[in-house]
Amino acid sequence: MSHAEDHEGTRRDFLYYATAGAGAVATGAAVWPLVNQMNPSADVKALASIRVDVADVAPGTQITVKWLGKPVFIRRRTEAEIAEARAVNLADLIDQDARNENLGATAAKDENRSLDEAGEWLVMMGVCTHLGCVPLGNGAGDFGGWFCPCHGSHYDSSGRIRKGPAPENLPVPVAEFVDETTIKLG
Ligand code: FES
Repeated sequence: MSHAEDHEGTRRDFLYYATAGAGAVATGAAVWPLVNQMNPSADVKALASIRVDVADVAPGTQITVKWLGKPVFIRRRTEAEIAEARAVNLADLIDQDARNENLGATAAKDENRSLDEAGEWLVMMGVCTHLGCVPLGNGAGDFGGWFCPCHGSHYDSSGRIRKGPAPENLPVPVAEFVDETTIKLG
């Protein structure tokens, strides 16, 4: 299969997924931005591990990539978002675990969820922990993070569940920076 065919196939699968997601929720609720940042490499074909170029992601914005059939949110947070996430009293959190696959069970403080020490980068599975809808981002919801319109779950700017039926924080997958502008998932 050529790279072009492979790319088309990936995109078709992705759009099908997005459409299926939209059908499960209120009209217009599951519209989410698609930025296909996948490199047409052997990694993508294997799908176990992909590299994402984040050079063009400006502070205060996010991209969504498809990985293992699911959306992954990659957000470059502003200073204000980081400060807000780090000022939260941990006792106020519904889920006390960071849900970070890179760390194992550990406290849900923001420092245990962000990819870099400064907290600029947040990488999470874009799947609501209630029943699996794709939450809306870019400061949505009552806590300045993500909002799942399916049944009203509010996540904060660290992706932690703060209000609504979702039981857990949005999971942080295995991820790392492999160079200054490339994040590897898996
Ligand atoms: S699936 Fe997100 S609140 Fe129910």
